[in-house]
Amino acid sequence: MFEVVRLTPADTGLILELQEKVCAGLADATVFQPSSPEFISYCLAAGGRCYGVRRGGETVAYRIVYFPQDREFNLARDSALPPGEYPLVAHWDTVAVLPAWRGHRLAALMNTTALADMAVTRYRHLFATSAPANPHGVRTLIAAGFRPVKVVRKFGGRLRFLLYRPNPGGWPPAGPRQARREIPLDATDELSHAFSSGWVGTAVETAGPAGCLTLAREPVPFAVAGHLPAARLSPGNGS
Ligand SMILES: CC(C)(COP(=O)(O)OP(=O)(O)OC[C@H]1O[C@@H](n2cnc3c(N)ncnc32)[C@H](O)[C@@H]1OP(=O)(O)O)[C@@H](O)C(=O)NCCC(=O)NCCS
Repeated sequence: MFEVVRLTPADTGLILELQEKVCAGLADATVFQPSSPEFISYCLAAGGRCYGVRRGGETVAYRIVYFPQDREFNLARDSALPPGEYPLVAHWDTVAVLPAWRGHRLAALMNTTALADMAVTRYRHLFATSAPANPHGVRTLIAAGFRPVKVVRKFGGRLRFLLYRPNPGGWPPAGPRQARREIPLDATDELSHAFSSGWVGTAVETAGPAGCLTLAREPVPFAVAGHLPAARLSPGNGS
């Protein structure tokens, strides 16, 4: 019924059209950063990879992956990842599902395909951002193996989680007796302090006024990703 397809440079207009519909339907426009036509075209060509979900003849969702190389806005610059690794970074950029098709796990479907594709590339570090005020967005990233590791400000000062996933192995499994804590998603200072003390997000509870992030103490596994001993991301700079 739903089919994930790789989009091509001919699909810039299609993504722009979907983006416009998604933006028009947002309750809180600050959680979604629209992409420029130039950026979309770049990602559809050699600068990234884009996926769509087709149902019948219609495209109802898209996911953009972007390869920032060593550009200024490489999200690894917000982490302790050594600059030599920046060319091995891929961004899990924008994802959007048309309002009528939400709740069908289409974001997860595209993530599964994109992760399988990324597993056989040279990219070793996947970074993403997501608004704490968008618990469904954060949750779909955590379900894809990402973990919130820091609070940053992006897009002219907007609060975002920085999320990280080693590629292709993912984070090492959590120990059974690992300490856990829960912090409301709108308690930004508390979250920021927890991240800089070595906690990372492992689950999102969407019930309640803002939702809640479950955190565990886990070292950021740059060693798993390749070349370094386990290291922790640098303390938050944005809250
Ligand atoms: C975030 C988003 C990509 C999730 O995609 P999805 O394929 O609907 O994800 P899921 O099917 O896993 O559903 C996510 C949750 O939304 C809920 N949901 C169902 N219908 C919904 C609707 N019409 N509107 C909003 N959320 C809905 C689901 O019940 C699910 O809740 P749960 O996690 O508690 O089970 C999608 O909601 C979306 O496009 N949002 C607007 C754009 C955006 O915020 N993108 C992320 C930032 S780049």
